[in-house]
Amino acid sequence: MKRAVVFFLCAAFLGLGAVANAGDESLFVAKCGACHKKGGEAAPVNPADKAGNVWSKYFKRNRHPVDLSGTISPDELKKIIAYLRDHAADSDQPAAAVIPK
Ligand code: HEC
Repeated sequence: MKRAVVFFLCAAFLGLGAVANAGDESLFVAKCGACHKKGGEAAPVNPADKAGNVWSKYFKRNRHPVDLSGTISPDELKKIIAYLRDHAADSDQPAAAVIPK
């Protein structure tokens, strides 16, 4: 019985951890895709456009040509970058076309 409870707590904890650290594709599509889409103000971008470490540095070094601080919170950006890294060109599962060209 005790064992089952411990197992349940571990599973719940691991489950929550996975959600907290997971990259967020829908956030990427909603926030980045607002401008980066076919016919939008910027060309479509996708995770496989860049390698993981390039994505990490891109926003940290303020390479993005438009200031996004008013529309994307630091927490949201963190989740988006985690998603971009998870599916970057050099990742195990590159995602080339989340926002269709
Ligand atoms: C307010 C509109 C807007 C939003 C929101 C936005 N961008 Fe941009 N982005 C632009 C514009 C404008 C450019 C420059 C024109 C272009 O590259 O098409 C640009 C350029 C870029 C480039 C450079 C293009 C290249 O191939 O090197 C990348 C990468 C990029 N954005 C990624 C993102 C990501 C990731 C997000 C979401 C976190 C995002 N952008 C959100 C407007 C936006």
